[in-house]
Amino acid sequence: MVTARPIRSRFVLLLIVVFTNLGLIGFFYHSQRSRNLAPWRLDAAAQVDRTKVAILNGNGAHDEVVVSFLYGLRQIQNLDVALYWDDPRYGIESIVSNYYEKLIKPMMVFVQDSAYYGDPDMVVMTSCDTYDLHRASPHLLEMANRNPNFRVMCVMHNPHATEHVDALLSALAEKSALHMVGLSSHVVDYVTGDMLPRLARDVNPIFANVSTTLFVPTFPYNVPHKCGSSETTDDKECRTSFVVQGLFESFRRDYSSLFEHLQSKLQHNETDWKDFQLQLLGQGSPFELQEPLSKHVTTRNNLPYLEYYYAIHHNVALLPAFGSDAYYEYKASSSVGAALLTGTPLVANKRLLDTYRHLSVDGVYHQEANESVIDTVDRIRKLHPAVMNEKRANASRMNERIILDNIRIWSEFVILHASEA
Ligand SMILES: *[C@@H]1O[C@H](CO)[C@@H](O)[C@H](O)[C@H]1NC(C)=O
Ligand SMILES: *[C@@H]1O[C@H](CO)[C@@H](O)[C@H](O)[C@H]1NC(C)=O
Ligand SMILES: *[C@@H]1O[C@H](CO)[C@@H](O)[C@H](O)[C@H]1NC(C)=O
Ligand SMILES: *[C@@H]1O[C@H](CO)[C@@H](O)[C@H](O)[C@H]1NC(C)=O
Repeated sequence: MVTARPIRSRFVLLLIVVFTNLGLIGFFYHSQRSRNLAPWRLDAAAQVDRTKVAILNGNGAHDEVVVSFLYGLRQIQNLDVALYWDDPRYGIESIVSNYYEKLIKPMMVFVQDSAYYGDPDMVVMTSCDTYDLHRASPHLLEMANRNPNFRVMCVMHNPHATEHVDALLSALAEKSALHMVGLSSHVVDYVTGDMLPRLARDVNPIFANVSTTLFVPTFPYNVPHKCGSSETTDDKECRTSFVVQGLFESFRRDYSSLFEHLQSKLQHNETDWKDFQLQLLGQGSPFELQEPLSKHVTTRNNLPYLEYYYAIHHNVALLPAFGSDAYYEYKASSSVGAALLTGTPLVANKRLLDTYRHLSVDGVYHQEANESVIDTVDRIRKLHPAVMNEKRANASRMNERIILDNIRIWSEFVILHASEA
């Protein structure tokens, strides 16, 4: 009896959730038909030539990737986009609502919706190499059986370690339904030059026939009280503060050399650095720092997205501070995306510019070969505020250009795909 109780109460909870969902769906369906709640448009005329795309994310990660796809794909004509997302985090729904007027549905509903409204033509798996693929795979294979032109756009976050999804990817590839997506040009290079040949050799020769497309995760985010705009009265942070974003994990970012170089500058002349602040924004256990570092370094943890993006933007520049070569070899850094979408100039060395080839030198602060990141910071913070504003304008322009490139690449892909159908 003791063990039965939680099970029964869980079952009751499940029933409540199911009925609440059904109730909500019914309510919205009847009261807001004009708002297009159905994942695909219901009018027959529109249905004829619209390509139906479902974006899936069940993993509780890669929020900004989901929003970027949502924004980018919604700019493409004749695409009907539906979003299935289990766990939008840190209030990101308030950003999603700018680009998506329908309800965000959980991934579980994806299969029911497809049975009711018809299969999508394309599914974007935004956390493809995770448990998401295990969950969706049987349904995706059925969809591929029903429609030979069905495509799964599989976003790879860890293309160097695919063991746990090899078999699932292989089954989709066998049905010609698999298409890989890399979140940076170097990830695309790795997937095409390393991952797919490896899978073709070790798992299934069919992988030699799988194609890969670039999608740079970013969207146009309009930060309130932008640095350099007239509405910003006190923009001290915009002139004196720098930011590092991401999980507080030493393998992801090189905090120790950052702190070490800063420490030596402070020891050399603290007066010169009295206004300087370094903000660490992220998740994980904050660092315990001694003076003088502790006076110049602030840590903020688990901010909701609106505050997070606001805090990132209100800095002179963002320091990527990569702690591992993975971000140059096969992983796409979230710092690059965060800098782009908030219009915050990135400090980028030659290797970073050569790797993230969608970036251009005019839109970043270039770290010279003979400089440490803190040397570059020292040089930047002495620039005139007008030059800082010009660099911000360049960074925002670069973001707009990258978004247009995304839209162009994916429009061409969708048109090509539709013409094959
Ligand atoms: C790959 O595609 C080519 C041309 O479409 C085809 O001839 C070949 O058999 C395919 N390879 C595999 C392993 O299916
Ligand atoms: C330290 O920096 C201050 C302010 O930039 C400057 O006036 C002073 O000359 C510097 N002191 C030394 C020893 O370099
Ligand atoms: C790097 O080289 C430039 C040009 O030779 C020089 O002006 C600058 O002081 C050097 N910076 C550092 C940190 O050594
Ligand atoms: C901004 O971009 C323009 C055009 O590419 C370039 O001429 C200018 O030097 C850039 N400004 C800064 C501060 O990087």
